[in-house]
Amino acid sequence: TNNPKAVIVIFGATGDLANRKLYPSIYRLYRNGKLSDNFAVIGVARRPLTNEDFRNNVKASINDFDDPNIDPDEFASHFHYNPFDIQDLEHYKALESLITDLDKTYQTDGNRLFYFSMAPNFFGTLAANLKSEGLTTTEGWTRLVIEKPFGHDYDSAKELNDQIREAFNEDQIYRIDHYLGKEMVQNIEVIRFANALFEPLWNNQYISNVQITSSEVLGVEERGRYYDSAGALKDMMQNHMLQMLALIAMDPPIKLTPEEIRSEKVKVLRALRFFNEDEIENYLVRGQYDRGIVNGEELPAYREGNGVDPESNTDTFVAAKLLIDNFRWAGVPFYLRTGKRMQRKSTEIIVEFKDLPMNLYYDKDDDAQPNLLVIHIQPDEGITLHVNAKKGDYSASSTPIQLSYDNNAQDKMNTPEAYENLLFDCMRGDSTNFTHWDEVALSWQFIDIIADAWSKKKADFPNYESGTNGPKEADELLKKDGFKWWDVSE
Ligand code: BG6
Repeated sequence: TNNPKAVIVIFGATGDLANRKLYPSIYRLYRNGKLSDNFAVIGVARRPLTNEDFRNNVKASINDFDDPNIDPDEFASHFHYNPFDIQDLEHYKALESLITDLDKTYQTDGNRLFYFSMAPNFFGTLAANLKSEGLTTTEGWTRLVIEKPFGHDYDSAKELNDQIREAFNEDQIYRIDHYLGKEMVQNIEVIRFANALFEPLWNNQYISNVQITSSEVLGVEERGRYYDSAGALKDMMQNHMLQMLALIAMDPPIKLTPEEIRSEKVKVLRALRFFNEDEIENYLVRGQYDRGIVNGEELPAYREGNGVDPESNTDTFVAAKLLIDNFRWAGVPFYLRTGKRMQRKSTEIIVEFKDLPMNLYYDKDDDAQPNLLVIHIQPDEGITLHVNAKKGDYSASSTPIQLSYDNNAQDKMNTPEAYENLLFDCMRGDSTNFTHWDEVALSWQFIDIIADAWSKKKADFPNYESGTNGPKEADELLKKDGFKWWDVSE
């Protein structure tokens, strides 16, 4: 078969991400016939577990062995455990011999995938030791998948990158941005580049503005310690939001190769207008949630959360007006907004088209609206095109209607999840949906200026109630340009 073959080594095998996302994704790939029998997973972590303990954990993480043709024990037999201390070089030797054994048993052609799914402060040491102990040299391919956060500013990202580049080449490094694994994020390119309908209008002649919103209902819950030193700007804007922006704004690539697509995305980031410190107030709004009622329950403010400084200046919400200074987009605002403890969990992209040169439908009961293309990323997956049509009465006036495609209406079981897509891509050697260092570097450079300016000036926090759509300044950001946030998910 052409299915990828590899020994997958997961560092951080007892962690939350591994249990919640990685094992279920490996199961789904296996069930869907995307993994042949030629694979093994080595779970690596500090804890002294036996293979049996580990396999039980893996089985427990897959709460739904829904395919009667798959024997859970047979699946779990591919999983092996290796207790490990990152500092101890002897442990690398033991790991090397386990990999070599499993490579023989499962005939994985010497292919190795290292997955760093643990605290980033160990990434550098781990990469260096893997190399010095000879684990990065093999007859097959060696790849590294690395989780976020990739640094906390440009300098730390660069330092981390330099460290892992000592052991891996850029083309071996797969930096995860899990939004790039989402079906509808991947669909952006197809919608744009496989239809005659949109691309000719996809510019400042016909588009008035673009809105990208990713809102969450949850607060920071148990992640206060990490989050309080990050905030929404670094946690969401630097990566997921700017990646979606790049996909929406990029030029058509000349071919669908990772290199060509990346080069177009990088051009967007290079064209982003970098703000001066004193302009930032005009383009960005930061927020932090206060107490509020969510689903009938009164919840505490961000500052009252675990691990959070009671006078924290950290943003849990950010709205931005970004400008892309190139021929295609000059003058078109891109409004991005993301936050915790908002009204609902939803990610969507709205492209608002300009009004026609003349409006014939000025009747007083006319409610024509601008055309909108809405890409629903989550929880609903689909596309809606808002157009105007005749009202169903005796008048000639118009009313908005929606043309919709609902991806959820398809067999949900067959829609791959983000991590499933990404793992499979990495094993096939397709880096399209991973972030290249050039993208990481540019986005941090852009974010750093804002983060620096904000750190110098204390914000008037908290400034939005839990369960609302953020501070009112976020609405004013659009209002002063004559726009509003479209509320289309209801
Ligand atoms: C992560 C952030 O990268 O993305 C989290 O660290 C955030 O703070 C999460 O909650 C959102 O992802 P999703 O897939 O639930 O929208």
